[in-house]
Formats: sequence, C-alpha cells, structure tokens
Amino acid sequence: MRYLISNQCRTIAKTIIKPDREFSFLAYLITGKVNVLIDTLPERFAPMLLEELADAIDEKPLDAVIMNHSEEDHSGALPAVLQKNPNVPVYCTENCRKRLSAVLPAADYRVVHTGDTIEMGEHRFSFIETPGLHWDDNMVTFWQAPRILFSNDLFGQYAAAEPPIDRDYPAGRLLEAAKEYYTKVFGPASSEEKQVVFEITKLPIQIIAPGHGLILKYNVQELRRLYEENGKG
Ligand SMILES: [Fe+2]
Ligand SMILES: [Fe+2]
Repeated sequence: MRYLISNQCRTIAKTIIKPDREFSFLAYLITGKVNVLIDTLPERFAPMLLEELADAIDEKPLDAVIMNHSEEDHSGALPAVLQKNPNVPVYCTENCRKRLSAVLPAADYRVVHTGDTIEMGEHRFSFIETPGLHWDDNMVTFWQAPRILFSNDLFGQYAAAEPPIDRDYPAGRLLEAAKEYYTKVFGPASSEEKQVVFEITKLPIQIIAPGHGLILKYNVQELRRLYEENGKG
C-alpha cells in the first residue's frame, strides 16, 4: 500500500495486522525535480515496491537510493530496484557499502558520513551514522526543509495501522510498542553507542518516518523522550 505524507513524499508499505501481531515494513519515495528512494522492503515485497514506484514516477527516472541499513528487511528489494534502474547511485555508510557489496558488487556506491549534507534537485539531506544501533552500518537521514527524519530501525515500533500514521492509534499502546521494540533491538547496544541519540534529537524534527511501525507525526516528543531516557542509562 501507499500513503502520502506530503505531496512530495509517500511511504510504500507492507503492513501486518493480526490479533496477536502488528508490524510493518516502510520504504519512502521522495519526488520532485529528482526522485529519491529511501530504503527498500524485504525481497518478497519487491514486485509491490516496483509497481508503486512505476506508478508514482511513471516514465521519469529514479535518481538516487539512500540506504540507511543493509539488513534484508530494508535491502532485500534493492537488487530488483537496481535491475530496473541500472546506474542509480546508492548513498550509504562505508559499512553498509561493504555489506551490500557482497550481494551487489557493481552498484554505484556513494559513501556518506555524519555531518555530510547533499543536495539532490530541490531536496537537501543530511546524515548521522548510528553504529551499534543496531548494526555497524546503520545511519539516519534528515530531509531538511520538511524536517522529516528517516530513521530506519530507530524509533521503530511493533505496531501497524492503515494508513501507517499515528493519528488515530492509541498513544499509550504506541509507546508500549516502541518500548518493546527498543528493548529488543537496541537494548544490547552499549551506553556509548546510545549517545548518538542525543545528536539526533537535537534536530528540529517534525515527522519521524521509521522503517517499522507507524509514521510519527503526533507522538514525536514522546518517542524523543523515550530514546533520551534510555540513552542516559
Ligand atoms: Fe535492522
Ligand atoms: Fe528493520
């Protein structure tokens, strides 16, 4: 399914809503003078992702892919995306490049670092590497003008809704789902590794667009607080 966050940004999502389990996989497409895909989906959802991409950008090219993390649930559909859009540059961390190269040795990687800002058409992105949260290759991407943080696994939750936005979802349940996710995925990280969270929460974030759960528009402060409290411990 797709959901428009704004007229230039949509999520391409697979949601799982069962009585005993809620989860989602979220990729994002930014459109404009240039079209940028942020993260992909698991390989099994590649056909859906390609269909939504074709529908959104029609005959126009996909100009770049930003990969915040190489784990299969975010990169599984990348080979299919690159097969359909050869020569598209892939922006990622050095460790992400190393890991993705095992599957895609010929891709055009552009390694980015914390503090780098890149301009793509009218869009401006900056990056913060988050090694250890939870692999050595993770980063987050901040889209500056609309102030949207594409956080990948960070700020994920065991929650799902259609559309995947936190507008009507019970806030208490959402916070529990975020805590559960944090404990499972980031609990093992060291206290040093968790400090980068304070760099991220300094950003003037309006919307958090994670790789799992719900897009956070109404609960940004609550999630920010949860991550900062856990960062202190
Ligand atoms: Fe992951
Ligand atoms: Fe993930």
